[in-house]
Amino acid sequence: MTSQYTYRGALEASERINWRVEDIIGGEKRLDFTKPFMPESLAQVKQLSFLAEEEKRTLNQIRGHEYLSMFGLVEEFILPYIVDHARSQLGADDYCVRALLRFAGEEAKHIHLFKRFREEFETGFGSKCDFIGPAEDVKRFVLSHSPLGVGIAILHIEWMTLRHYIEGVKDNQDLDPQFRSLLKHHWLEESQHTKLDTLMVEALAEAATEKDIDKAFQEYADIGAFLDNGIKQQTEFDIESFVNATGRNLSKSERETMTAAVLKGMRWTYLGTGMTHSNFLATVEQISPEGKKQIEAMAPMFC
Ligand SMILES: [Fe+2]
Ligand SMILES: [Fe+2]
Repeated sequence: MTSQYTYRGALEASERINWRVEDIIGGEKRLDFTKPFMPESLAQVKQLSFLAEEEKRTLNQIRGHEYLSMFGLVEEFILPYIVDHARSQLGADDYCVRALLRFAGEEAKHIHLFKRFREEFETGFGSKCDFIGPAEDVKRFVLSHSPLGVGIAILHIEWMTLRHYIEGVKDNQDLDPQFRSLLKHHWLEESQHTKLDTLMVEALAEAATEKDIDKAFQEYADIGAFLDNGIKQQTEFDIESFVNATGRNLSKSERETMTAAVLKGMRWTYLGTGMTHSNFLATVEQISPEGKKQIEAMAPMFC
């Protein structure tokens, strides 16, 4: 049983949405640093009882900067992947070609959007926040895998983005309105990407042998492990950014507690929310019930 999504439906929805980066950030539209940027379900900083309220907010905002940077990073490999896939489909149905080219255009716009927010953040935050990379190395590593393996990883990313907005942001009035608007506008377009990526993954799986499919699930796990290594390194950067921003002297045990909380929050944000998404798992199960079991066995480490 394949999904009921269509290229035409995704294209029409995308044409109705159609926002511009300039409408969302810049000019009067500034980040408000008196507010948190990330929903607590992802930031997971409130439990750190040894921090004052402003310190928790600062750590939350650092996690916001990391979110902007992480999406900037993953969109850098999603864009060429979609462009390559669109090129391979140029002789296909007109709606398919147009929907895929629009998908690529939207990801290019998202790269720009996340970059603009990062510039605004850097202007207003007051101290430097480091981020892993370079994006070029990550892109090279991820795209060295088979199209089906990368497609499954991207499907995970698309569904997790939807979940971030629906579960943590949609009804949350506490967050900075500008950051909330970013997550909302991203969600609006990612909603079509989940459908298009499902169609792409289904088509690739249909043409694949059983061996190709097993390999793709191994690749998905390898890409996940690679991202998890980046997450571990980024956890250290987030803690350093916090120390730089607040001048706070953390004791050894405070630092350990904070490191564990940030690592857990990041793993849930970028890995757990995708791996346990029911729609992601439904597509995966249809391709390989065994592949789904493997993902379910890995998931608790990131939840
Ligand atoms: Fe995106
Ligand atoms: Fe996307």
